[in-house]
Amino acid sequence: MLERQTNSLTDPLGRYYTNSLVGSLLVNSMDAQNPELILDLGAGDGALINAAAQRWEKSNYLTVDIDQNAESSFLPKKYGAAFKHFHLDALNENLAAELDLEWGQIDIAVCNPPYIRPPWKKQFSEILEDAGLSNVLTKINEIPADMLFVAQNLRMLKDGGKLGLILPDGLISGERFKRFRAELISKHSIEKVIELPRKIFRNTDAKAHILVLKKNCRSENITVQKFCSNGILSDVHFVNADMAAKRLDYSYLISNNRSNKKHQLTIGDVTEVLRRGQYSSSEIDKLNFPVFHTTEFDSKSKYIDSSFNLEGKQSIPYKIVKAIAGDILIARVGRNLSTKVRMVKSGSVAISDCILLLRVKEKYRDEIYSFLKSKNGEIALEALSHGVGAKFITPKSLAELLF
Ligand SMILES: C[S@@+](CC[C@H](N)C(=O)[O-])C[C@H]1O[C@@H](n2cnc3c(N)ncnc32)[C@H](O)[C@@H]1O
Repeated sequence: MLERQTNSLTDPLGRYYTNSLVGSLLVNSMDAQNPELILDLGAGDGALINAAAQRWEKSNYLTVDIDQNAESSFLPKKYGAAFKHFHLDALNENLAAELDLEWGQIDIAVCNPPYIRPPWKKQFSEILEDAGLSNVLTKINEIPADMLFVAQNLRMLKDGGKLGLILPDGLISGERFKRFRAELISKHSIEKVIELPRKIFRNTDAKAHILVLKKNCRSENITVQKFCSNGILSDVHFVNADMAAKRLDYSYLISNNRSNKKHQLTIGDVTEVLRRGQYSSSEIDKLNFPVFHTTEFDSKSKYIDSSFNLEGKQSIPYKIVKAIAGDILIARVGRNLSTKVRMVKSGSVAISDCILLLRVKEKYRDEIYSFLKSKNGEIALEALSHGVGAKFITPKSLAELLF
């Protein structure tokens, strides 16, 4: 879907380009009549501004990219004076003046920002402050470029103007960015969020979402959808502002939707023990007793193999994390973790630090195991393992799952 244009896995300018299908989905998700000025910061080869120009034919189109070889620099030559390109740093504190504009003059902005962390610059504080986003992260020098691009776009937009973004999963669902989402929701109307299929970037597992907002308007219920890999848009799911600050990703919201649940209970409500195992994969080889690790989920059986049973084994340290009969073991990190769920049948078992041990009240044991092994459980675990690149499940996020 989004085409990577470079060979390196971490392009310093985050040059991963949008394909035309996602570009049209983005602009067609934005409800706007006769916009005069349309802006694309980090325009790359111009996929988003081209989609916008097809939708709104009589506008003026401004593109900005720091890469002097960006294809969008040829748009004015190709299509005429309605297009203007600027070879500029979009995070310039005087961006509006550089574009011969005042702040707050843009009707529509489209943007797929670079998902990178630029070295901290003093002007970033001003950009965030001006956009009302200065208090969203505790470590100010860890602000990712995508958030700074959101801030610059907000400064450029007029009140009531629309911003259509393609944002990384972290900003949409990550715990760390909860305040960022809460701030956006309290100041602007989030009109739509559309989850895009995983592997939308070639060569990486990065996940992204479309987000459309209207500047300085009140948020009503937010509509969340998923664009499935077969090209079909899912049904619409509505979320209120509180839930949306927590998470805005369709898969999680659907799999954790209260109205579909038998109990109004979370896994945490019925849990006695929920913790990580102890041994790292490098330690395991040096031990003379077996340790259950993520590589051992192969068998199709409900239970882990009895060879991991510690009974009768020598040199077991007195104080180790042991899973016991009835405990559910869940892969916490790694590939296909949503399918890696097993139970301990008998005895006790040592586990690696890539495994979560879940001990629930006996009454709920089989029900929770069946839920985690069901299609819904798999979707829920998959949705928990969010973030660009690293896939992992935290005990806290598991405990919050409704079953
Ligand atoms: C993820 S790509 C998106 C390109 C295009 N908008 C699309 O959707 O296909 C990010 C773009 O931002 C540009 N970029 C990175 N840092 C920038 C900066 N500080 N100022 C302007 N452009 C920047 C990159 O050169 C790249 O073209």
